[in-house]
Amino acid sequence: MKKSSPGAHIIKKDLKKFPKIPNVTNYEEAYKNFSWEKAEKEYIDFFPDGTMNAAYNMIDRHVEKGKGKKTALLFESATGEKEKYTYEDLRRESNKFANVLESQDVEKGDRVFIFLPSIPERYIAFIGILKVGAIAGTLFSAFQEAALLDRLADSKAKILITNAVLFPRIQKIWKDLPHLEKVIVVERGSLNQPEEKNLVFYNKEMEKASEKFEIVHLSKDDFSYMLYTSGTTGKPKGVVHAHGDVLQALVTTRDVLDVHDDDIYWCTADLGWVTGVVYGALGPWALGATQVLFEGRFSPENWYKVLEENKVTVWYTAPTAIRMLMGSEVKPKDYALSSLRHLCSVGEPLNPEAIWWSLEAFGLPFHDTWWQTEQGSITIPNYPIMDIKPGSMGKPLPGIIAAIIDDKGNEIPQGEEGHLALKASTVQSLMKQIWGNEEKFKSYFVGDWPAGHSLGDAWYISGDKAYKDEDGYFWFIGRADDVIKTSGERVGPFEVESSLVECEEVVEAGVIGKPDELRGEIIKAFVVLKPGIEGTAELIEKLKLHVKKHLAGHAYPREIEFIDKLPKTRSGKIMRRVLKAKELGLPIGDTSTLEDY
Ligand code: PRX
Repeated sequence: MKKSSPGAHIIKKDLKKFPKIPNVTNYEEAYKNFSWEKAEKEYIDFFPDGTMNAAYNMIDRHVEKGKGKKTALLFESATGEKEKYTYEDLRRESNKFANVLESQDVEKGDRVFIFLPSIPERYIAFIGILKVGAIAGTLFSAFQEAALLDRLADSKAKILITNAVLFPRIQKIWKDLPHLEKVIVVERGSLNQPEEKNLVFYNKEMEKASEKFEIVHLSKDDFSYMLYTSGTTGKPKGVVHAHGDVLQALVTTRDVLDVHDDDIYWCTADLGWVTGVVYGALGPWALGATQVLFEGRFSPENWYKVLEENKVTVWYTAPTAIRMLMGSEVKPKDYALSSLRHLCSVGEPLNPEAIWWSLEAFGLPFHDTWWQTEQGSITIPNYPIMDIKPGSMGKPLPGIIAAIIDDKGNEIPQGEEGHLALKASTVQSLMKQIWGNEEKFKSYFVGDWPAGHSLGDAWYISGDKAYKDEDGYFWFIGRADDVIKTSGERVGPFEVESSLVECEEVVEAGVIGKPDELRGEIIKAFVVLKPGIEGTAELIEKLKLHVKKHLAGHAYPREIEFIDKLPKTRSGKIMRRVLKAKELGLPIGDTSTLEDY
């Protein structure tokens, strides 16, 4: 069936009504005239020898151009202490940290992972790692030992930076990580110093370290950071990005998030997630912006207070948080939030109700943006100047070619559902590889691929299904695979299934995402128990706790159902779509490969 936009509820934009002229005032013209070559000349500083470094573009160049005293970071700790870091502060601290890394023999290409809460040291470490040319790996502080082991073992991380509270999780798995030479412990706020061989203490080393550092000269294609992300099958994969990504990160922070020089910008995403890396570090700092970092937990009171006290003007957050704010007794009208000027959202479908609510609550609509870990920056957004069709993800970024294609890579007519794809060569921040897994990397592309080192004419397939309407707006339909999105986090069903199977009572498990009004999806597990084991309420709690404690705090199944047998293909693969169809009372679809069930 051909789809078109649900028309009636368009939010019209009028340039005259903007309190501040947006950085892009005409989307169509921008799309027609944009060129990445021109943008690179305008926004990126190369060293005289033609090399570059993303960290230099994020921090040092601003100091050299006289902006050293500008605030780069406004930090509030979980206990309410506030700190302010200028660009000069970040330059100095990251130089010192780069020297600490060099004293530990870290070299270009080494993997250095960060396992910390949202404190400034996490960011100083990130910038320092880029300065030495190593690859920064970021980890959620909610990760437990199974998730940590997968990532640190696969990447063969050489150094890990953590704190005394999180260190015991590493201590348990260190013996299985032969490549992990040293752990650097950040002492902020912790009294108990762990004792173990090969520990390095952050404060002590930073005190000794020189403030001068010669930033390592790199090419645009040299690796900068890596993030593990979930697919349908197997363990999480290491998505590797390069220093040249900083261009698209900067352009989108400026043109989509509309950050201006005098803005106070807050991206609520954790550095363990791609949004935290790209829009909580790379993009805003490359643009020279002032940003807020809040270590505390989400609560409507906490968040409204952060917005109020910092006079935040531009806010980038996620649909689950917005829906939690919508459902709360705590109302935005009880806070002074008139400084807010532009709101954006990412990570999962932004339902139109959330936009209607924000219009009423803040007098501003949320602007949806779409992209993925693999893409490294926003690719399909709602520009500030663009009329919003609530429920649509927006239109392609100038410089990017997006299309809906069929399985063979042919574009399909407007209004018809298909694979949402991007012309790979147009995405400046596209991943450079899947760590140690060329086959997986290639599986993302169809068409003319690979032509030597270039991306040729290939399409990058996102794994999302979507359609394009009569005005060129893209509408999200769903994932083409079994990947789960819960509260904006991407979770692979296989990881959860593997964790459940570790419990002695369990024979096997099939895990799906079940639609949920608040969280987008919740994780639901269908579990087959060993003969004679009873599926009690206590057992359900035990299984949930197991996943929480061994895999990750956010990746546990909120619902568990015991069943006698899982639907499988004749070759033994769990058919999660059958579980999902049964759960939702939908037709099961093609069952020709289904074993008797
Ligand atoms: O399914 C899409 C969903 O999140 C996936 C990418 O997840 P991740 O790599 O964790 O990156 C999220 C932040 C960049 C996509 O394949 N997704 C992301 N943004 C949206 C979305 N789904 C609907 N609307 C969005 N705006």
